[in-house]
Amino acid sequence: MQIVSISSLKGGVGKSSVTLGLASAALQRGVKTLVVDLDPHADATTGLGVTADPEHHVGKILGRRGKPGSLSTVTVGSPWVENERTEHGRMGLRLDVAPGSSASSMFDRAQYKRSDLVKLDRAVDGLESDYDLVIIDCPPNLNTLTRIAWAASEKVLSVAEPSLFSVAGTQRTMTAIAQFERDTAWAVNSAGVIVNKVHPGSREHQHRVEELEELFGDLLVAPVLPDYRVWQRAQGAAWPIHRWPGVDAAEIAQRYTQILDGLLQPSS
Ligand SMILES: Nc1ncnc2c1ncn2[C@@H]1O[C@H](COP(=O)(O)OP(=O)(O)O)[C@@H](O)[C@H]1O
Ligand SMILES: [Mg+2]
Repeated sequence: MQIVSISSLKGGVGKSSVTLGLASAALQRGVKTLVVDLDPHADATTGLGVTADPEHHVGKILGRRGKPGSLSTVTVGSPWVENERTEHGRMGLRLDVAPGSSASSMFDRAQYKRSDLVKLDRAVDGLESDYDLVIIDCPPNLNTLTRIAWAASEKVLSVAEPSLFSVAGTQRTMTAIAQFERDTAWAVNSAGVIVNKVHPGSREHQHRVEELEELFGDLLVAPVLPDYRVWQRAQGAAWPIHRWPGVDAAEIAQRYTQILDGLLQPSS
């Protein structure tokens, strides 16, 4: 089971979109996946077609005193799977979500205790036989929730837009990961940078992508993701991009599949 955090210290760059794109690719590939929605805004949860439920949300696990208990007590299945079963006759698929909720905003603060950091790490214990991949959608800042996610992850993917501020934000994220590893007992085994919302044909964007290549070298994840409006329509309909019609959706879907395949390679 591989655990990956999708992070960025900046909002609106596409963390939840990357979470949804990877979840869609994983479903297509038959990779058993759990999405953990650590952002109190719960956009990834909504995008997976799951509605708020007072019993099933990740805040229940994080808020528990003492042992957090297993995340499996709050996970729910995404309706994306049902659709794959009924419309396309595919069986044996699994895509679950530990839904986000405003309840986790109690950890939306900078101060943390060691006992806070272990919560998710402990809560995913024992899920190895249930999932091949766990994707954690993080909030857009370096609060305790983000650190809880990093402490549970082997890999952190930072999402960047091809803009000046986003390049600077990505450097800050990478510095924060290194600092986190120095300050705590946790090692994030690897990091990567996903470049999202690239306008095909924009020279400014091309320049920023080259800048990111220079700064982050091998850490840059290929391929980059184009800015296509169809992505917003698919997300608005809470539909997997791999099932959305049209050439733009197919291109986005295919790029996410490539990123997923790279992620799941044993050496990465
Ligand atoms: N590649 C893309 N092409 C077009 N729109 C995108 C793309 N990636 C993200 N978006 C849109 O940008 C907005 C912010 O994305 P979101 O994933 O919510 O960012 P974050 O989770 O980092 O705050 C959303 O409306 C989303 O649909
Ligand atoms: Mg988000």
